[in-house]
Amino acid sequence: MATTTTPAGSAAARGPQASAGVASLPADAISYEDLYARWERGNWSAMELDFTEDARQWREEFTDFERKAALWNYSLFFWGEDAVADNLSPYIDAAPREEQKYFLATQQVDEARHAVFFKRFMQEVCGLGDGSMASGLNAIEHELTPGFRKIFARLDSMADELRADGSRPKLGAAIALYHFVIEASLAQTGQHMITTYLEERNLLPAFRQGMENVALDEQRHIGFGVKLLCDLNREDPRVAGAVAKLLREVLPWTGQVLQPPGWDERYLTCFGYTYDRIGGEGVSSLQTKLRSAGLPHEQLPGPPVIPPGLSPEEISKVGRQMAMAGIIGVREGPSKRDPETLTLLFDQIVRQVNPQHGLRKPTTFQWEFTDPDVPTWHLTVNNGSSRASQGEAPKPDLRFRVGYQDFVDIIGDRLNPVRAVATGRMRPRGNPLALRWLLKVFPRG
Ligand SMILES: [Fe+2]
Ligand SMILES: [Fe+2]
Repeated sequence: MATTTTPAGSAAARGPQASAGVASLPADAISYEDLYARWERGNWSAMELDFTEDARQWREEFTDFERKAALWNYSLFFWGEDAVADNLSPYIDAAPREEQKYFLATQQVDEARHAVFFKRFMQEVCGLGDGSMASGLNAIEHELTPGFRKIFARLDSMADELRADGSRPKLGAAIALYHFVIEASLAQTGQHMITTYLEERNLLPAFRQGMENVALDEQRHIGFGVKLLCDLNREDPRVAGAVAKLLREVLPWTGQVLQPPGWDERYLTCFGYTYDRIGGEGVSSLQTKLRSAGLPHEQLPGPPVIPPGLSPEEISKVGRQMAMAGIIGVREGPSKRDPETLTLLFDQIVRQVNPQHGLRKPTTFQWEFTDPDVPTWHLTVNNGSSRASQGEAPKPDLRFRVGYQDFVDIIGDRLNPVRAVATGRMRPRGNPLALRWLLKVFPRG
């Protein structure tokens, strides 16, 4: 019988931890003045790069598949650079200090330059677009992946929210999305992959030069994000909760940002990388930057934002498997329901138990599926040793009768559980108080 338990060493097993306090942090070694000075020194021209040799190599030295794979990958960057350039203005308005506003203004210039750089590459090397930004973006829009679309739609809505509410918690959440998730976790690792294989194969000299310049700019932007989030967190105790909430919302989409067409991993392996190598680097980068800002992910309030007890590469693997199974992220078909998927699903449910649930005695929740081919599972929440097992519990406190797909959509944040109960799609039976307890175990919002 399948059973899955709280991982040893997890936040749930250790219980709540003290906050980081105001001890010296890596962010303290960064100054806004130095970041600005580095921007002045690092200025470069996207217009002066000569793509003639790149265009020849693209035609003559890349295989058909390599062109297809590179175009898919570079399209994400082109669209992303345009989107981050467009969405930075409200950050400038919301930043509390002049030095922060000035740096963000330099960053907006950088992002525009990056977008121009990719637009030139797309037109002059790949032959896409008529030279205008709009035509270039239109030409590559179909390459955007499901997770990428979700993350960048959230960046758009975050900009609107920040215009309406320039408070420190809102700015902190916005920085977590822009500088930590998009720049540090997604873009920087992708840039590292691209510059590494182009250098190893000595390909695309102008594009490589541009990518190295972009990467240096991004390092500065990420350093600024770490510094600003650290300051905001020290100035306002609500920032950590806002960051945690944002990360819980968006991280489930990250597994589908670099989702190759048809999950065909050759789109990455043809350049010497695997999905989980890049994914692991992305997780590790996010963890390091959060720690540097004084907000280690293990100490953020509420349920874990990143599954505890797993290495970065294992986290990438689990995220990929859950996305491929149609559990988290954008579901592209019916969710899988084989025994391995169910074990993976309930293992993640155990890892999501809020360590500060406050329940005084072991409490068991049981899910009985209306689908005859999906077995019953139950979860027993206990201090430090929660576990989920296949089969019926002897004395469950609360039982749910629910369709498997609805259940998975609740776990994947595609269906509101309160609405599911209100509309009869999920029927609870047992101790009515236990519904309130469940909300403590898996708090929403
Ligand atoms: Fe950029
Ligand atoms: Fe950037």
